[in-house]
Amino acid sequence: ALISTTPMLEKAKQDKHGIVAFNVHSFDSIFWVLEAAAELKSPVILQTTVGTVTSLGAENIVAVAKAASEYYNIPTGLHLDHCTNFEVIKEAIRAGYTSVMIDASMHPFEVNVAETKKVMDLAKSLGVNVEAELGKVGGVEDDIVVAEEDAEKAVPEECKQFIELTGVPTLAPAIGTAHGIYKGKPKIDFDRIAKIAELVDVPLVLHGGSAIPEEEVRHCVSLGMAKVNVSTELKNAYSEAIRQHFLDDPDALDPRAYLQKAKEAAKEMAKSKIRMVGSEGKV
Ligand code: 13P
Ligand code: ZN
Ligand code: NA
Repeated sequence: ALISTTPMLEKAKQDKHGIVAFNVHSFDSIFWVLEAAAELKSPVILQTTVGTVTSLGAENIVAVAKAASEYYNIPTGLHLDHCTNFEVIKEAIRAGYTSVMIDASMHPFEVNVAETKKVMDLAKSLGVNVEAELGKVGGVEDDIVVAEEDAEKAVPEECKQFIELTGVPTLAPAIGTAHGIYKGKPKIDFDRIAKIAELVDVPLVLHGGSAIPEEEVRHCVSLGMAKVNVSTELKNAYSEAIRQHFLDDPDALDPRAYLQKAKEAAKEMAKSKIRMVGSEGKV
């Protein structure tokens, strides 16, 4: 079964390890991520953006994720990532997602609070986890594009106020990371994370998990960032393996051959991220 990510993340935070939330873009990658997690006996979160819901369908995603979680017998959450649209949130919850993100971070604080409360009213009684974002994470995540100069870090006092006003059980404060692969080096504001973690009790979420040095991710986790989002690196590993297969054999026609390469690459990437956050053996 798919389980709510609230207890999973609370436990991880207490135990001072992280849980990786992998963005999946295809049905096959759902199986590969769960196979990687099963081999390492690690709880895991699958997440999809709105673009992936549009492409694959919420009910199909739930059906496949549920079947795979039962087959691999691993605690698995299914999360809707960066959603700005209340109708899609309703659709995902109705289909069986166990966690949703309402991303109203582009709006003023009061609007973000109101939007998040609206989602909490719907999700809470159903045991569905809710994630909200404060500040603005830079970079590109599907159709959400934030230029570097528009990225904005979360204000610790506002994080505290936000939790008090909304009761949201997981919070993604922008702390200097960006979506995608960095051009330079990320400048993570560890002092800010520590300050936020001092003021709020809920598990925090690290967005933009690709291309951050391992020790910096571990530092974030140790400060209370229990959910670590990884999209770009997993997607790239998958696509690069297929690209290489066709470069080596331009006439390749058997999907099993190139998907096997994609599977090996994606699994290896997923395992390295699971080991990085310390959730190996935590089932
Ligand atoms: P990356 O693409 O940098 O891994 O970011 C993932 C993310 O934050 C998804 O919400
Ligand atoms: Zn993100
Ligand atoms: Na990133």
